[in-house]
Amino acid sequence: MPRVRVHQHVNPLSPFYRQAPKPVDVESVFADPERPLLLDIGCARGRFLLRMAEAEPGWNYLGVEIREPLVDEANRLAEERGLANLHYSFSNAMLWLDRLLDALPAGLLQKVTIQFPDPWFKRKHAKRRMVNEEMAHAIARHLEPRASVFVQTDIEFLAEEMFELFRSNNRFEEAACDENPFPVKTEREKAVEEKNMPIYRALFISRNNA
Ligand SMILES: C[S@@+](CC[C@H](N)C(=O)[O-])C[C@H]1O[C@@H](n2cnc3c(N)ncnc32)[C@H](O)[C@@H]1O
Repeated sequence: MPRVRVHQHVNPLSPFYRQAPKPVDVESVFADPERPLLLDIGCARGRFLLRMAEAEPGWNYLGVEIREPLVDEANRLAEERGLANLHYSFSNAMLWLDRLLDALPAGLLQKVTIQFPDPWFKRKHAKRRMVNEEMAHAIARHLEPRASVFVQTDIEFLAEEMFELFRSNNRFEEAACDENPFPVKTEREKAVEEKNMPIYRALFISRNNA
């Protein structure tokens, strides 16, 4: 399948991207909706989840991405591969993650990954960064006890900013994280590793009863 061409970045605060996402109906998108769920936020072309869905088929996988053509392409690819445990949602996670997660049945969300989000380097663009306090709260509200949030980036200031959002939320405790706990690397992770650049990683576990 030829790769769809897309803008490298879109402005998540522009009117078009302020639309509420369609709720994900787990009964219709997954063959077995009761499996534990891994959510990958900002999944781009979704290849990390595609390989995870093949490598660890006992889970369901949901990708969230703001560039709609990538979502359509990823869903087509999942269907072609016959992966009934994988789905992608066109959503602006910065604004709508809480709403998206509210629409899922309770008891499913066991793992969240946030990998190499766009840094938006300029100070005037900082508000466009995907990982904000609302996102950390939304994850905290919906994550099952003893479930995990894995965050990685190659941008040091962004790592500090994101990690602090989770460290300052009582719902989470930080776990040791020397390397990627998953058997699959994202596209961006492979590119950074090929250049031998540092990667900053953190793992947060939700407390039992915070
Ligand atoms: C640098 S890419 C990293 C992609 C992938 N996680 C990886 O590690 O290879 C960041 C992705 O996040 C998406 N993104 C940015 N803002 C978003 C938002 N508000 N909601 C959902 N996705 C977003 C971008 O469109 C892009 O695909």
